[in-house]
Amino acid sequence: MKILVTGAYGQLGGELCRMLRDDAAPRDIDTLDLTDEQAVAKALLEVRPDAVINCAAYTQVDRAEAEEKAARAVNVAAVEYLAHACDTLNCPLVQISTDYVFSGEDRDTPYREDALPSPRSVYARSKYDGELAAARCAKYLIVRTCGLYARPGDERANNFVKTILRLGRSRSELRVVADQHCTPSYVPHVARAVLSLLGVDRSEPAPWGIYHVTNRGAATWYNFAAEIIRLSGMEVSLKAITTAEYGPAARRPAYSVLDTTKYHALGGPAMPTWKEAVAEYFGESV
Ligand SMILES: NC(=O)c1ccc[n+]([C@@H]2O[C@H](COP(=O)([O-])OP(=O)(O)OC[C@H]3O[C@@H](n4cnc5c(N)ncnc54)[C@H](OP(=O)(O)O)[C@@H]3O)[C@@H](O)[C@H]2O)c1
Repeated sequence: MKILVTGAYGQLGGELCRMLRDDAAPRDIDTLDLTDEQAVAKALLEVRPDAVINCAAYTQVDRAEAEEKAARAVNVAAVEYLAHACDTLNCPLVQISTDYVFSGEDRDTPYREDALPSPRSVYARSKYDGELAAARCAKYLIVRTCGLYARPGDERANNFVKTILRLGRSRSELRVVADQHCTPSYVPHVARAVLSLLGVDRSEPAPWGIYHVTNRGAATWYNFAAEIIRLSGMEVSLKAITTAEYGPAARRPAYSVLDTTKYHALGGPAMPTWKEAVAEYFGESV
C-alpha cells in the first residue's frame, strides 16, 4: 500500500507518516507545491498512490483575513487539482477539514455531518470550498476535525498547548477566551481514526462521504488552558475573557462541537475524551 500524504511536515501529516512508515509517500511544499497544478498531476502519476490524504493547508486563521488569495490557493485550488488527479487514477482523496465551516450561532448541540455549513471567515470559507472541491472526486472522505495539538515531541508544531506552556512560563497571568465551545483534539487520536476510515486497519474503507473526528466532550479554550496548567504544574493565574475582549481578526464559531456518532458507528478506534487526551499528552512528555 502507498499513501501520498501532503502537508507531511505539519501536525497531522507528520503523525500520519510516522504511523504509516514505509507505506507513506510524504510530500510538503519543498517536494510538492500543491498550488502548481502540473506538479500535482505529475506527482500522482509518479507515485500512483492507493490513496491521497491531504493534510496541507493554509492554517493561519487570522492572517487569512488579509491574505485571501494565498489561503484559497492552498485550501481550494490545490484541492481541485488533487481531486482531478485522484479521479484520473481512480484513487480516493481524504480531505481534512474543520469545525469552523459551521457558524456556531444560536447553537448548543453538536453538529452532525448533514448540518448545513455556514462559514464566517476567509479561512472557514476557503476550507468549505475545499470540501466542495474534494466532494467532486468519485471516491472521497472529508474528515472535519478541531483544535489539533500534536505529540509533545513534534518540534515544528504550532498549537494551543505549546502556546500556553510557553506563555505560562514567562507570565504571571494568562487571559484566555471562555465563550468559544469546541473539542480540542490530540493528533495521534485523529490520525488513527483517519487511517481507520481509509480502511488501513481493515479490508474496506468507510463509505465515501463526510465524517466528524474529534476527541469527545466539549471545552472552552479557558477550560483547555486550565487543564494544561493543572497537568503541567505551572503556577500561573488564569483569567477568563470574551472573544470580543481578545479581538481576533477572524470571526470564530461560539459553538462548534462536532457529533462523532457516524465515525464511532463504524467500529473504529474509540476517541478518548478531550481530558483523557490531554492527560495522555502530558504522560508522553515526562
Ligand atoms: N490546527 C488545527 O487546530 C486544525 C483544526 C481543524 C482542522 N484543521 C485542519 O487539519 C489539517 C491539518 O492541520 P495541521 O494543524 O496539521 O496543519 P499544519 O501543521 O499547519 O500543516 C500544514 C502543512 O501544509 C504545508 N503547506 C502549506 N502550503 C502548502 C503548499 N502550497 N503545498 C504543499 N504544502 C503546503 C505547510 O507548510 P508551511 O508550514 O511551510 O506553510 C505545513 O507543513 C488542515 O487541513 C487544517 O485546515 C486544523
